[in-house]
Amino acid sequence: MFPGSPGEWAFGAGAQAVTIVSQLDDEFYLEHGLSWYAASKSMAPTPGHRTAAGERYRTFDPGAAILRCFQCHSTGPPRLGAGFRIEPFEPGVQCETCHGPGSEHARSRKPIRNPKRLSASGLNQLCGSCHRKPAAAGGDTDWTNPWNTRHQPLYLAESACFAKSGGALSCLTCHPPHQGLERNAASYDRVCSSCHAHPRHRTAVAGRTCAACHMPAVEPRPELRFANHWIGVYAPGKPLRPIARP
Ligand code: HEC
Ligand code: HEC
Ligand code: HEC
Ligand code: HEC
Ligand code: HEC
Ligand code: HEC
Repeated sequence: MFPGSPGEWAFGAGAQAVTIVSQLDDEFYLEHGLSWYAASKSMAPTPGHRTAAGERYRTFDPGAAILRCFQCHSTGPPRLGAGFRIEPFEPGVQCETCHGPGSEHARSRKPIRNPKRLSASGLNQLCGSCHRKPAAAGGDTDWTNPWNTRHQPLYLAESACFAKSGGALSCLTCHPPHQGLERNAASYDRVCSSCHAHPRHRTAVAGRTCAACHMPAVEPRPELRFANHWIGVYAPGKPLRPIARP
């Protein structure tokens, strides 16, 4: 997220989209009805919006919808400034999101929190505080809703790879935390092969990446694309949920 004029913020690093949020008055914020999409390099309706007018939210809405945008898209506790303006401590997802407060580190000289020490499900919790956590047992996730594929920890936790590898598979196995997202699907093959040296295929697999078939792309709308993190065997053209296996 980036600051615009006072009380106005551009949400999103722009990998897929940018949405403007601005303060209207002492009581209301507006999430703009048109967003910018990287795939089409143009403006189109914001996800969930039916008109271009935008969505008004009360700053002190009980559901705290607008405050929650700031909580996931900035670092440290947001403050309330003059005129009930929400002011992020630090815009964007910064070091302290994962490493804890640096001031504590400077004061006590204790090492910063190192998320490497977390277990695979601990990482699902940390990353899932924004990317959404795995559902509680018996949770009621709608697996037919393509928008849910945005929630990578939720989907990864359903995979046999995750459940049956004794904690050896986490977000960090595929995503080094200090690098941008690797967009070359072939580079993930190496990770798969570290556990599946000789997968048994009847299907012809030459020339395609492991992820193309086992983590298929889902497009909840033409401008947005998510990899389905429920690693599994999918029927062609049905990327939402793997086929049940014996
Ligand atoms: C404070 C909330 C928050 C936490 C915690 C968080 N993320 Fe994110 N992450 C985001 C947001 C927001 C974006 C979208 C980019 C942006 O707007 O800054 C993002 C983007 C990403 C991307 C895509 C980057 C791209 O170039 O498209 C990956 C991969 C990712 N995060 C992985 C992780 C992992 C792994 C963890 C845990 C170690 C984690 N994130 C923890 C909020 C968070
Ligand atoms: C529960 C945490 C959470 C909340 C609440 C939240 N976001 Fe996000 N948002 C994320 C994460 C995580 C990503 C990136 C990962 C992804 O898209 O898979 C993201 C992505 C985005 C992107 C695209 C970023 C990019 O680089 O492509 C935009 C724009 C955005 N959010 C705007 C908003 C706005 C506006 C609100 C409030 C109406 C909001 N978000 C509320 C967690 C959140
Ligand atoms: C999305 C979460 C995330 C963010 C944001 C993040 N890190 Fe990290 N960082 C990690 C994880 C996870 C590890 C452990 C990685 C590993 O070794 O595999 C790590 C490891 C480190 C280490 C090595 C620690 C050790 O004892 O081995 C340093 C230093 C570090 N990060 C500094 C930073 C700095 C500085 C920033 C901001 C510019 C930053 N990190 C942002 C998640 C994050
Ligand atoms: C840390 C090790 C590990 C990694 C990395 C890993 N897997 Fe797995 N995977 C497993 C285990 C364990 C199982 C369960 C095997 C069993 O049931 O006997 C599994 C099962 C599977 C299955 C069968 C799914 C099902 O529902 O029966 C497929 C397909 C699969 N993996 C593909 C992949 C692909 C593709 C990648 C890379 C994107 C990957 N795996 C990465 C450990 C891993
Ligand atoms: C087995 C490898 C693997 C694991 C484990 C994994 N990812 Fe991914 N992730 C991928 C692949 C492949 C992509 C698609 C990259 C591309 O766009 O080509 C991706 C894409 C993403 C993106 C970009 C949006 C999307 O869905 O395409 C985010 C955010 C992300 N992963 C977060 C996470 C988080 C958080 C975790 C831990 C819960 C995680 N990933 C675990 C392989 C993995
Ligand atoms: C063209 C799509 C496709 C590609 C590419 C592909 N697979 Fe598969 N995979 C399948 C299908 C379909 C099955 C179910 C068995 C069958 O029909 O061959 C399967 C089954 C599996 C299984 C379960 C069978 C077993 O050995 O227990 C694993 C593991 C697996 N694949 C891993 C991988 C890995 C790793 C890669 C990349 C090196 C890969 N697959 C590439 C489509 C693909």
